[in-house]
Amino acid sequence: MTLLAVAVSGRGVVPPDEPVVQADDEALLRGRAAFETLRVYGGRPFRLADHLARMRLSPHSLDIAWTGGFEALAEEALAAAGAEDAVLRLYLTPGRERSGRPVSLALVSSLPDDLEERRGRGLKLISLLGVRAEAPWLLGGVKSTSYAVNMAAETEARARGADDAVFVRDDGVVLEGPVTNVWWRRGTTLYTPSLDLGILAGVTRAVMIEAAPAAGYEIAEGAYPLADALGAEEAFTTSSVREVMPVVELDGRAFERGPAAAALQQALREEAMR
Ligand SMILES: Cc1ncc(COP(=O)(O)O)c(C=O)c1O
Repeated sequence: MTLLAVAVSGRGVVPPDEPVVQADDEALLRGRAAFETLRVYGGRPFRLADHLARMRLSPHSLDIAWTGGFEALAEEALAAAGAEDAVLRLYLTPGRERSGRPVSLALVSSLPDDLEERRGRGLKLISLLGVRAEAPWLLGGVKSTSYAVNMAAETEARARGADDAVFVRDDGVVLEGPVTNVWWRRGTTLYTPSLDLGILAGVTRAVMIEAAPAAGYEIAEGAYPLADALGAEEAFTTSSVREVMPVVELDGRAFERGPAAAALQQALREEAMR
């Protein structure tokens, strides 16, 4: 991904290579900041209002004052980038230590260049132990920049010859991927872990739930053991940037590419381009 444009609260658009946070910003010192990642289709950020509604909840858990103003910041950054298809990332940092002056950022980057190749090939996943709990200080379902554990899980998956990971609880219940929600299909039912497991309420997940009935599928949300996913006919992951990614292997068990991932990928694109 190449950084195309940056907009900063109080300053507007700045050159992408210009420093925008101070050395003692708590985002850097403690990994304490809220963020959102969206996909931009035809120059328009998809479901910006939904991402901002989710983002509004994170600063509360992270004890950062909500500043708002992200629509305007995003618009400025997108106009400066001039890209049709891109990634938009929004950040709210606490600012300098004890300053009480949060900093808002909007970053526009090019899309990762291997997405369609990965979609064509399908993903190999491995399950890894992950912790999501309802205890609010464990930040389950909060999109904070403390994602080092998530990134380490991706690295571990790659080291074991897979493309990505799926977190499972210590009792074997499936949670989510490091940056994705996970799905599997039996017959015409699509199964996905429920939000009360402390996973992130994916915006793409919500789009899938909306689009499923018209595509001929019903949704089941719950606490499912990994064995359920391993016994499925088809599996896939969803996220804003990667969209719907078919899974071809989970813990060494092969999956056929199936009709649900293809139908929902198409439905997602249609919705995004409407
Ligand atoms: C932990 C986690 N789960 C799920 C998702 C998918 O969410 P969305 O569809 O809103 O991109 C993400 C996105 O980055 C994530 O970080």
